Amino acid sequence: MFHDLGKSQPILSVSDVADPKKVFEDGKLHAYRGAEIAKNFYAIHEDIVEIIRYHHHEEHELPDAFPWRLRPMFRLFQIVDGLSASITRGGGEVDFTVQDCIVTVTERNHRPQYNGTWQVDLFTGKRTKISD
Ligand SMILES: [Fe+2]
Repeated sequence: MFHDLGKSQPILSVSDVADPKKVFEDGKLHAYRGAEIAKNFYAIHEDIVEIIRYHHHEEHELPDAFPWRLRPMFRLFQIVDGLSASITRGGGEVDFTVQDCIVTVTERNHRPQYNGTWQVDLFTGKRTKISD
């Protein structure tokens, strides 16, 4: 709910054709702003603030000081954020199950590069493609 507080949205009309890479700024910028807003205006717990701050970082880009205990939640957050975008903007259908620390996701949407079934181990970060 708080993670995209700092997002700056381009003004587009229904029939506009736009290249997302050109009209949207780097997600790391709104992640940083969102973290500052969540922390200072809404008194969100510092662990959640850190996840908001880095939610558009690749895992290998996280600073050394990023606590290990937050990595499983960070991974789950990124999965849910991506699937939510698929459902709301890509017309996607998603199946999502969890067993122990393994999340299994099946996705079907208009962008075929995202289709398939994969598993993510929230503790190790290992991602395994199960099927196309
Ligand atoms: Fe975001």
